[in-house]
Amino acid sequence: MIWVRTASSSIKSFHKSSLVRMHIKCRGSFYPRTNEKVTRTEVPDDKVEWSASFHDYAPRQYTAPHILAGPEYADPDISCPEFKPLWNAVDGNINRCSHEESYNIVDGYPRNMHGRTGIAGRGALGRWGPNHAADPIVTRWKIYDNEVAHGETGKPILQFVCIQRRDSGEWAIPGGMVDPGERVSTTLMREFQEEALNCLEMTHEQKKQTEDKLKNFFQGGEEVYRGYVDDPRNTDNAWMETVAYNFHESSQDGILYSLQLHAGDDAQAVKWQDISSQLNLYASHRDFIQKVAEKHNAHW
Ligand code: BGC
Repeated sequence: MIWVRTASSSIKSFHKSSLVRMHIKCRGSFYPRTNEKVTRTEVPDDKVEWSASFHDYAPRQYTAPHILAGPEYADPDISCPEFKPLWNAVDGNINRCSHEESYNIVDGYPRNMHGRTGIAGRGALGRWGPNHAADPIVTRWKIYDNEVAHGETGKPILQFVCIQRRDSGEWAIPGGMVDPGERVSTTLMREFQEEALNCLEMTHEQKKQTEDKLKNFFQGGEEVYRGYVDDPRNTDNAWMETVAYNFHESSQDGILYSLQLHAGDDAQAVKWQDISSQLNLYASHRDFIQKVAEKHNAHW
């Protein structure tokens, strides 16, 4: 059991093995990137869990037009007769298992195990049920400023590679979706290179050099989180899950202090960000960063 602070600031116990707090970001009034045209049904804190009765609950069905257009990474509509997904299983090369527990199928639709979100359908997510991502948290100690230890806590300051997402403008870990059949370790390094180093615009030779440089470093990661994410795109039938790894370098002679950061792909900016409790990050990323700060006994 973990204790969570809910949207209304009351403390509640939450019987999920997850670090993620109760739905907060995926209960905003409007569905993201719809110019406030798509609203979520209001779900009070005490009605998030499916076991709480909510007789009038009839959320709007919404699947974004770019998903309905059928891009390669998206599932067909559930009503499509050829679509025969294997729920809670690895379905061909698509992982439809949750990292947390089995989810229920209700009236043919996978049901979000973390409760109601005020909207049904897939929203802007490609897959019904879990949509898997991976998040590389690349950290080093702050050494360049006068203030390398925090004035109040006296603890050393940790920095992580932080990107600004192109879709929402929010700052985030440079993570991304696990491609079908891809190993999470591959996603972690690929996404870091695409978003924080802009390797998509490198020559073949430059790409190879960068990869060789990073390969060893990316073998030494430690898992800090695996499970559900309170992502603003989640719906009652589709949600984000992630595996977050910390890749830390303490030596100033290692690769991180000389790494040239360049935003690319889904990122519009990138920087080394000082870690503290003042951070406001995309989805549940602040929770992951807090765990990393605690792991290194750094300032938070
Ligand atoms: C992001 C990840 C994030 C996940 C869940 C993905 O789009 O790239 O960084 O953890 O969504 O919010």
